[in-house]
Amino acid sequence: MKIFLDTSSVEVIRSHLSTGLIDGVTTNPSLMLKEGKDPLEVIRRISDLFPDDASVSAEVTAETAHEMVELSRPYTSLGSNVTVKVPCTREGLEACYILSENEFKVNVTLVFSQAQAILAAKAGATFVSPFVGRVDDNSFGGLCLVKDIANVYAKHNVSTQVLAASIRNVREVGRAFEYGANICTLPPAIFDKMYNHILTDDGLRRFNEDWANLMG
Ligand code: G3P
Repeated sequence: MKIFLDTSSVEVIRSHLSTGLIDGVTTNPSLMLKEGKDPLEVIRRISDLFPDDASVSAEVTAETAHEMVELSRPYTSLGSNVTVKVPCTREGLEACYILSENEFKVNVTLVFSQAQAILAAKAGATFVSPFVGRVDDNSFGGLCLVKDIANVYAKHNVSTQVLAASIRNVREVGRAFEYGANICTLPPAIFDKMYNHILTDDGLRRFNEDWANLMG
């Protein structure tokens, strides 16, 4: 059960690393826009924070597969923990095939159906990213999609990992893992909510009071 942070903020990632609970990072053009910095420099700084076997997804946006492959070069040269993120389109799948044949890790993103996930696996994707929240926004089940993908991968011994993305609340994290996700990528605020619990805070307050009374 791996946890990635879904952010392009180097500072936020750094501040969460000491927990020892963060296994990687995903970024996308919208998250990059929020930071307003050079994406290559952002990915370089994030990549430097993680070991070689971690994953830092850098998304490439282009019309054709070959343009996507070209755009990925500066990113993949940063380190072996950089994963190229491509959209689940015909061109994106072709780019995935080319990159994975060349031993690069690929995350196929914007996945909204089991059929897309099957093609991503066949194209050699290391990760497939079903968008749980955006599926729910469109009135079908995001977590059911995670389950459907995980089930078909398990049945056919597929090594592509299911990376549940577009997670909007803590409950979905537990469910996504229960349904077979290998990884959940979380906005930092959702990760922080995972360890916060009102009953933990209340219980701790009472224990601290009792301890203080015992010690005089
Ligand atoms: O990394 C992509 C994904 O997590 C986007 O989430 O909330 O914009 O649907 P969201």
